[in-house]
This record gives sequence, C-alpha cells and structure tokens, in this order.
Amino acid sequence: MHDLYRLITLASQIAGKSKATRWRRYGVGRYLAVTLAAVGVVVLAGCGELPQTIMHPAGDDARLILDLLVPVLWIALVILVVVVGFLIVSMVKYRYRPGNDGIPPQIHGNPRLEITWMVASALIVAVLAVMTFKTMSIRAEAPGPGALIVEVTANQWWWEFTYPELDVVTANELYLPIGQEVDLRLASNDVIHSFWFPSLSGKQDVVPGTVNRMNFVPEEIGVYPGQCTEFCGLAHGQMRMAAFVVSPAEFDRWVEMQQTGADPALATSPGAQVFQINCAACHSIRGTAAAFGQIGPELTGIGARTTLGAGVVNHTPETLAEWIRDPSQIKPGVLMPALGVDVGDVPAALSEDDITALVNYLEQMR
Ligand code: CUA
Repeated sequence: MHDLYRLITLASQIAGKSKATRWRRYGVGRYLAVTLAAVGVVVLAGCGELPQTIMHPAGDDARLILDLLVPVLWIALVILVVVVGFLIVSMVKYRYRPGNDGIPPQIHGNPRLEITWMVASALIVAVLAVMTFKTMSIRAEAPGPGALIVEVTANQWWWEFTYPELDVVTANELYLPIGQEVDLRLASNDVIHSFWFPSLSGKQDVVPGTVNRMNFVPEEIGVYPGQCTEFCGLAHGQMRMAAFVVSPAEFDRWVEMQQTGADPALATSPGAQVFQINCAACHSIRGTAAAFGQIGPELTGIGARTTLGAGVVNHTPETLAEWIRDPSQIKPGVLMPALGVDVGDVPAALSEDDITALVNYLEQMR
C-alpha cells in the first residue's frame, strides 16, 4: 500500500514536471491551435446532408420547438461568453507572478455582489421558463375535429400505423396528407419505445398499457426519416421509420391502394401459395386469403415500400430475397426466422425457387 502511494506520488510529480516544461517549450499558442483544430473537426463533422434534423422543420410542432431552441441557444451563448470571458481575463490578469505571494482581497460575505448574481440568475431562469411554458402550452392543445387519427403501435423492432377511420393498416412508412392535422395515439406491444420524427414534431415515449397522444400539422411535402429513441432491446438502433408527407390527391390514391389490397388475379400465382403456407401465420395482405397474421408487419402494399426491416435496407427484389432467406443477416436480433437457411439437419422451409416465386408475388403488391 505504501509502495503504491509512493508510485502514484512519483508519477504525478513526473507528469506535472513534464507538463510544465512542455508548456514552456511550445507555448500556449500551440495548445490553443490544437484545441481549436479539434473543435473545428467536430463542428465540420456536423455539416453535410443530414436529413434527420430538427434544423429544417416541416411541421408546425417542429417549427415551434426550433423557434424556442434558437433564442435559448443565443441566451446560453451570451452567458457562456460572459462567464468564460471573466474566467480568461482573471486567469491572465491575476496569474501568479514571482514575488506576489500574498492572498488577494477576499469578497466573501459581500451582500451586494451576492444579491446581484442571485437576481440575475433568477431573471434568466424566469425568462427561459416563460418561453418554454408558452411553447409547451401551444403543443399541448388538443387536436381539432378534422384531424386524421393514426394509431401508432410500437413493436420490437418496427412500427405499425393504423388509420381506424380509413380501415388501413401499414408498417414503418407513415403516409400523411400535407396541411391536415394528424392525431397520433401511441401504444406499445411490448417494452417502452419512443417515437420521433425530428422534422415534424417532438419526441413522445410509447409505453405499454397506456395511450400517449401527439398532434401536429405536416407543412411541407417530402420524405422524413424518424426512429425509436428509447433503448428497447437488441435492434433498437434499427427501429426506423419514414413519414411521407404527400398531396391530398396522392394520399387518397395511397389509401385506395391500401384499402383494395392485392389484385385478385394474383391469387393463383405460385408465390401466393408459398405465402399462405409459410408467411400467413404472422403477416397479412389485404385482398388475399392471408388476412389473420398479426405478429409481423402488415404487408399490403409491400411492393411500393422503399425500405425493408423498419428502414434498415433499401427495398429491391434482391434485398427482399435476402431478407426472406435470413433477415438476421441484415438486422441482427430480428424476431422473424430465417426461412431460406438449413438449420443443422433440418432443411430450409423455403427453396430458392420458393423464394423467387414469393419475391415476384410480393413485388406486385403495389
Ligand atoms: Cu424501440 Cu428503441
């Protein structure tokens, strides 16, 4: 124990000494330059195309939040500059000089100073609180009577979107008509998740056993990425989603496609049979015999979806085949079994021909 203590003391002495000589040799300027360069690298790393951002709001809710964030950041910046400014001036002006060994005048117990900084801090906090409460109260307003109701159900690790008034169910890709208020009702099937489209609205926890609410108006046509922001298990980082804000006409077209479901002519295609035997226990497709699977995502309109596995990979016939063969290769932790892989002596549920037929069938669901 004693030896350890001596070792630590010795090490700290060496470190202290070498640091002091280094400071003298390179000067403060060199250290400042290195620090600035490091900060610059971090700042520059934030530039570029980052679509999942709060800085370009496309909904009224996100705009309100940004309108709060920007003035709060400016206030914080002014405080930072003042505090760091005082710190630097004090460090330089009152630094140690040889011969100056006395204790500086003590200001402890100076009522004027103490009241000043208490009142100043309280005022700053009061201003921030009023601004925040104002934004919160607008965001807490109940949706209007014409709002589009969407029930959001979080699952490990994908999202289900149900439009009860339109009799439409879909997964991971949320369609919203521009300019119409949306009334989201969020529930979870398993653990706690969190729902977040940074460009459209704030975050909302999605908790089992309760229904949380959120409403906003999408204001700009576009595709906006979102994701789960509460750690919810192995594939939490791959629990993504996309919001398609479209024109009312395009929305109606999409709703009609979802309501109609599969072309009845497809019922005799080879893929339909493969689907019915192997997939229908978990997945449904409107307009087919597979109408009862509830465990996995609804696949009506799957052919038109842009991504697979809750936004993990772009949707092409090749990635769809890979996904069916062994989804865990694309998304580790996924609960869907590998249907195209032999497990020990047990042969794969689907042959390569089955997979080809299935992919052809699913790609026509659009
Ligand atoms: Cu769901 Cu994280």
